[in-house]
Amino acid sequence: MLILGLETSCDETAAALVEDGAVLSNIVSSQIDLHAMYGGVVPEVASRKHVEAIGYVIREAFESAGKTPSDIGAIAVSARYGLIGSLMVGVSAAKSLAYALDVPLVGIHHIEGHIFAPILSHPAIPLPHVCLTVSGGHTMLVYVKDLCQYQVMGNTLDDAAGEAFDKIAKFLNIGFPGGPAIDRLSRRGDPAAFNMPRPMINSRSLDFSFSGLKTCVVNMFRGKQQDAIPLPDIAASFQEAIVDVLVSKAVRAAERKGVTAISVTGGVSSNQRLREVFEQTCGQIGLEVFFPSPDLRTDNAAMVAAAGAARLERGEASGLDLNAVPTAPLESIR
Ligand code: KG4
Ligand code: ZN
Repeated sequence: MLILGLETSCDETAAALVEDGAVLSNIVSSQIDLHAMYGGVVPEVASRKHVEAIGYVIREAFESAGKTPSDIGAIAVSARYGLIGSLMVGVSAAKSLAYALDVPLVGIHHIEGHIFAPILSHPAIPLPHVCLTVSGGHTMLVYVKDLCQYQVMGNTLDDAAGEAFDKIAKFLNIGFPGGPAIDRLSRRGDPAAFNMPRPMINSRSLDFSFSGLKTCVVNMFRGKQQDAIPLPDIAASFQEAIVDVLVSKAVRAAERKGVTAISVTGGVSSNQRLREVFEQTCGQIGLEVFFPSPDLRTDNAAMVAAAGAARLERGEASGLDLNAVPTAPLESIR
């Protein structure tokens, strides 16, 4: 079945067409440049920009796939978890189209979308597996028992991993979004130059806390002249601390559940050092690790369409009374 996916939970307006596991088009209009001048996403600006872009990305998704609206069998949309004004734009567009085209509608939890990105990229990924979702808004460890069956094992207690990257990059004045800037800068730095804390790395809990690490960096370098700060070494040491925590907790979660595979998804899964350490560590202990293809790592609508296909296959759909909800537990989508 051909499914139209829509995603507007944060600062990307995205539409995609997915048919039986094949991505026919994946259009993302990013607002990053606009928010960069504020050093972070401004919710009111984001929703206005979604309104401007949504029609365009949907048209583009059809054109580049060589399909027309009458070809689609269903619409999936991120309806849970994100900025309320932003989510509402995608949900309203999805409801209008579902009504006009008389096709089923399915609301998806944004994190469930991320969980489907590695599944879409690697259809043979083992089930069950453990999924680490790391992005600007979330750091979550999820036991994926089967498609659409989840148990949250760990969650962020304060700043998400990507948020910590963004805040430190802002403090160091090296750009927004901070993740890619720190990733690039770190390649010239020594990860052992500064001994940064690894918050909760040895705790039994699989939750995450990165705000102390952020405060530690700020306290180390506050008031120092910019040219007296060894930026690449700080970036590399900070990144190493985050990577160590993420990898060790994900591996522990996998061992606790006795699974043979880990998937890593969300914007931070683009991080080169994170990928290296995961591959090295998992290789040593015989765990498989899966990352989404590059265009599915950050927010996109193909992952939402893939999650929608799985939900529809289970006979689940939403009504036209579907609402946008900014926070909701992963398990409670319907
Ligand atoms: O998944 P995503 O596009 O949006 C959310 O759902 O939040 O993730 C965006 C986050 C940002 O915090 C960005 O700094 C981070 O992903 N990010 C990275 C890298 N690329 C993007 N973090 C570390 N290294 C990267 N290469
Ligand atoms: Zn996301």
